Amino acid sequence: MTSQAPRPVVLIGPMAAGKSSVGRTLAKVLAREFIDTDKVIVRDNGPIPEIFAELGERGFRELEANVVAEALRPGAVVSLGGGAVLDEGTRARVADSTVVLITVSEAAVASRIDNNKRPLLAEEGIVAWRRITAEREPLYRQLADAVADTSHRPMRRVAEEIAAWVLEHEHPGSESKKERGITSV
Ligand code: S3P
Repeated sequence: MTSQAPRPVVLIGPMAAGKSSVGRTLAKVLAREFIDTDKVIVRDNGPIPEIFAELGERGFRELEANVVAEALRPGAVVSLGGGAVLDEGTRARVADSTVVLITVSEAAVASRIDNNKRPLLAEEGIVAWRRITAEREPLYRQLADAVADTSHRPMRRVAEEIAAWVLEHEHPGSESKKERGITSV
């Protein structure tokens, strides 16, 4: 019997929630390929603030949608930028994946925000983060198969709990129920 590669595991959620760190560790724990779509965009096009300055948010979203479409392949763990879900085509593709929403409280995220790297937070910082996160919340919730919060636990632990949840989700009954910090939705 040949075993098929599993559907991509996609991490979505607000800016600075921990999608990249959790995704990197999750891929290691599951021994799967890791793709961070922001990193691919930067590798191929230069720094994100420069892309926003040259092409505007709209131009960035077009680049992003193409990179995401390419990244969502079977067997991969994929961390998306916080705004990737604004694109309708991306939402349709993500809906066919195993989707984990990474959340974080406003208090915990405040110290993680590096305003220089995120053009949408450049002027108002946490105030913009709060507004943008609230605006996107319905999209995140609509797509999520599970939710994991990074506010109070080390990223490694969050990643390990998600790994256990993913294996259980892919093969119900095969894993012990130890993924306490993650909620299926
Ligand atoms: C964005 C999030 C960023 C990056 C870009 C736009 C957004 O990624 O893609 O600055 O619109 O939420 P992170 O979610 O990794 O911060």
